Amino acid sequence: MILDVIKKRRSVRHYLAKPIAEEQINEILEAAMLAPTARNLQEWRFIAVTDKTKLQAIAKLNSHAQMTAEAALSIIICGDTNINKPEYIYADCGAAIENMLLQALSMDIGSCWCAIGPDEVRLKTYREFYQIPDHLIPVAAVQFGYLIEPTTEVKRFDGQKVIYYR
Ligand SMILES: Cc1cc2nc3c(=O)[nH]c(=O)nc-3n(C[C@H](O)[C@H](O)[C@H](O)COP(=O)(O)O)c2cc1C
Repeated sequence: MILDVIKKRRSVRHYLAKPIAEEQINEILEAAMLAPTARNLQEWRFIAVTDKTKLQAIAKLNSHAQMTAEAALSIIICGDTNINKPEYIYADCGAAIENMLLQALSMDIGSCWCAIGPDEVRLKTYREFYQIPDHLIPVAAVQFGYLIEPTTEVKRFDGQKVIYYR
């Protein structure tokens, strides 16, 4: 059941020092591209980084994403403002990111979603580092690496946050 994978998804910030094969990387990207988008415009663009030198260098530039230094893969997901509005870009990329996290976990790969936009400092950092053109908004950097240990389930269902019309 999909809920079993969702329950086990946690933000993982330490990883095994084991590379992720291209086939698995492409399965993670395929999961992203199967997410829904407003008007089905699929305005996302992806930067997939496995270069250890780059991963370690960018980790030093973003104190909120230090796990990038340990990660086997970082995917920077961007949205193209020539294709869709920023508000939709954030929603669409969010859906794609969650698909990536779940697909990764199903392959014993942990992940951590780190926001880039709308924080101006992080936008500038990633734009400069990866030479991202102005028409693309880098929404998030998502780090991946094989799990050191199994993730733990948490319970978050809270009926107080729901208004039911029955
Ligand atoms: C939009 C967004 C931005 C986030 N940015 C960061 C970040 O910059 N650094 C980080 O370590 N975690 C980041 N996280 C992960 C959250 O801290 C994490 O999802 C939250 O604490 C709940 O924990 P869980 O993912 O294990 O359920 C982000 C999550 C989201 C959805």
